[in-house]
Amino acid sequence: MKPSVEKTPAELSAEQAAYWNGAGGKGWLASYDRIERSIGDFGQAVLAAADPQPGEKVIDVGCGLGGTTRSLADAVGLGGHVLGVDISEELVASARAHRVPNATFVVGNAATHPFEAASYDLVFSRFGVMFFGEPVAAFRNFQQAMKPDGRLVFLCWRKPDENPWGLVPVRAAAPFLPPLPRPGPEDPGQFAFGDRARVERILKGAGFSALSFKPLDQLVFMGQTIADILENGGRFGPLARAFAEATPEQVAKAKAAIAETLKPHETAEGVRLPGACWLVTAKASAG
Ligand SMILES: C[S@@+](CC[C@H](N)C(=O)[O-])C[C@H]1O[C@@H](n2cnc3c(N)ncnc32)[C@H](O)[C@@H]1O
Repeated sequence: MKPSVEKTPAELSAEQAAYWNGAGGKGWLASYDRIERSIGDFGQAVLAAADPQPGEKVIDVGCGLGGTTRSLADAVGLGGHVLGVDISEELVASARAHRVPNATFVVGNAATHPFEAASYDLVFSRFGVMFFGEPVAAFRNFQQAMKPDGRLVFLCWRKPDENPWGLVPVRAAAPFLPPLPRPGPEDPGQFAFGDRARVERILKGAGFSALSFKPLDQLVFMGQTIADILENGGRFGPLARAFAEATPEQVAKAKAAIAETLKPHETAEGVRLPGACWLVTAKASAG
């Protein structure tokens, strides 16, 4: 496989599209109930910060199954409209099944989707913006779709070492598995927006102003029991990918190591480890 530093933005984009239309989308769908319990509170915080108003036009970027799209649609009411855009056909099909009268779901790449120009009051995303192969192009595309006083509000994870919920199981399992991919600093992925300076560079490069980064720290629910987590580990995320390439013996050893490292965190409320996000807001233009 080509080292990630040698991949072009178009190749990185194509890789993400293939992932979210394949194992990534399937894993997200299969694990969604647990995921919603893990990130629901973060989602409430970013919805509150976005403060959608009746009559507004909104884009929900990387909308997935459309849970936040529906909340936004409730807030803007029948006089407003929400466009949920996502690169995964399977996730968009599930989102459409809810039939929200004032929301439309489209399959599209954030960097190239032909949004109506200068039309949107709010561009919103809960964890949907870190997977772009061409991030400046994507944010420029949003900026051009926004009204001059439009606002951008999104949530992304900070760095892996600030997110033990993501790092701890992977670190415990890694010695027993085939080498895990080590994403380069510009590669798309879950923690691609952890470096605040990089996000500032992307947003300023796309024409945004009045950037604000608010840290949000909460415990992340990983599963009710360690057994649940081990079952889910095979469904979504970096461990799912590593498990798919490992032998059954390697998977068994990796799971035993994960169980051991999570034991001190098992409580009646489930297994929860610290998580850390940026709540990012910006304005579409300097004016
Ligand atoms: C971590 S999921 C978040 C889903 C949703 N926002 C939520 O909170 O439930 C990331 C989503 O971004 C979508 N995505 C990735 N790259 C994209 C792109 N270039 N354009 C549009 N959507 C993209 C994926 O298909 C996936 O649904």
